[in-house]
Amino acid sequence: MKILEFISEYEIINKVKEIANNIKLKNSNSEIIILSILKGSFIFTADLVRELFKINIKPEIYFLNAKSYDGFNSTGKVKINDNLSFVSGKHVIIVEDILDTGLTLKKLYEEVLKNNPESVEICVLLYKQRSRNFNIPIDYIGFKIPDKFVVGYGLDYNEKYRGLPYIGVIEKVKNEKLINGL
Ligand code: IMP
Ligand code: MG
Repeated sequence: MKILEFISEYEIINKVKEIANNIKLKNSNSEIIILSILKGSFIFTADLVRELFKINIKPEIYFLNAKSYDGFNSTGKVKINDNLSFVSGKHVIIVEDILDTGLTLKKLYEEVLKNNPESVEICVLLYKQRSRNFNIPIDYIGFKIPDKFVVGYGLDYNEKYRGLPYIGVIEKVKNEKLINGL
């Protein structure tokens, strides 16, 4: 199994700065809550909030657990356990690593809306170009990518590769059997 670099560290950090600037343009006078979806978004969120701080946007930051993937496959179910009442009356930006089927964001978006926020925006670093059964409004997109399994910069394959500083594509070598966790 090989990992091919797909989006470089340099491209990512420039994109994160650009997203931070766009968030500032739309939210310059409001107090923002960042709602980051664990685990995949932890590195993106850390970089994004530091870029926001540099341009004088100082959001509150909350993390939520959501899990829908097992290995390469979406299980089709999303679990969210946390109480979201803290979003009431606030400007919320949901920060997610990647939009794939959209199930995670759809579920979370609906949960946030039930808790009466002032506004909700969605920010994803990666947007997989594939068909989806529903539309969710995405306000900030880092990179549109083909429908391939990617790792690095927070994203895992069975909990491995989250610390990779760039985003890579896993390539299966011919005749190789995938073993859980590699
Ligand atoms: P969705 O609910 O299908 O949109 O998937 C969302 C979650 O699945 C993301 O937050 C990721 O954690 C994970 N995921 C989706 N695609 C990939 C991928 O290509 N690599 C690693 N994780 C992924
Ligand atoms: Mg995720």
